[in-house]
Amino acid sequence: PDSTEAARRLLSWYDRHRRDLPWRAKPGETADPYRVWLSEIMLQQTTVPAAAPYFRNFTERWPAVRDLADSPLDDLLVAWAGLGYYARARNLHKCARVVVDRHGGRFPGDEAALLELPGIGAYTAAAITAIAFDRKATVVDGNVERVIARIFAVEEPLPNAKPTLRRLAATLTPDFRPGDYAQAMMDLGATICTPRKPKCMLCPWADYCEARAAGIAETLPRKVAK
Ligand code: ADE
Repeated sequence: PDSTEAARRLLSWYDRHRRDLPWRAKPGETADPYRVWLSEIMLQQTTVPAAAPYFRNFTERWPAVRDLADSPLDDLLVAWAGLGYYARARNLHKCARVVVDRHGGRFPGDEAALLELPGIGAYTAAAITAIAFDRKATVVDGNVERVIARIFAVEEPLPNAKPTLRRLAATLTPDFRPGDYAQAMMDLGATICTPRKPKCMLCPWADYCEARAAGIAETLPRKVAK
C-alpha cells in the first residue's frame, strides 16, 4: 500500500475509535513521559485490564518520577505485588533513580539514550519515543507483528520472520503523528486484527490486506512448531 494513505486511513479510524486508557493523553493533551514509561513497563507481561488499576494506584501515590525515585524500593515491591516479574519493579526503581540522578528528573527524548536506562529495551525505547515525545520510531510488539504479517501476507514463521516484519513495519510508519500512529497500531491489533476471528469487515486496512485477499488472515502469523 501507499504508506501515507495507509497511515491517514489508520489515523482516521483511530480518531473515531481510540480506546480511553488511563495512561493515554486525551486528544490535545501533551503526553507525560513518566506515565508512558510506567504504563509500557507494566504492559510488558500484563494485559490492559490487569494493568489499569495498578497504573492508577502508582500514579496517585507517585505522581512524578522523582516521587518514585525517592520512595523505598520495598514500598514499590509491595505496590507491585500481583503483577509478577519482580525484576520489572526493581528496574523501575533503578530507572527512576537514573532519570533523577543523571537526567535532572526528565526522561531523555531519543531512542539511543532511552535504551541506556535500566529495564528499557528496544520495544520500550521506541514506544516512549513515539508516544511520549511524538517522534518517529517503529514500535513492534506482538500485536504489531500480527497486523504486519497479515497486511503483507508474510508466511515465514516466527521467530524467523521478526527482521522481515520489523522492516515492513518501518516502511509503513509515517512522518506525521508518530505517537497516535503507534497507539493506533496497538488498538488495531487488540480490537480488530485479533489472533482469532479478526473483524476484517471493520478494518480500515481491509482493502490493502494481502492475507485477507488470500483467505489466510486467521492463520497468520505462523509460528515455528515447538
Ligand atoms: N500495550 C502496550 N502498550 C500499550 C499502550 N500504550 N496502549 C495499549 N496497549 C498497549
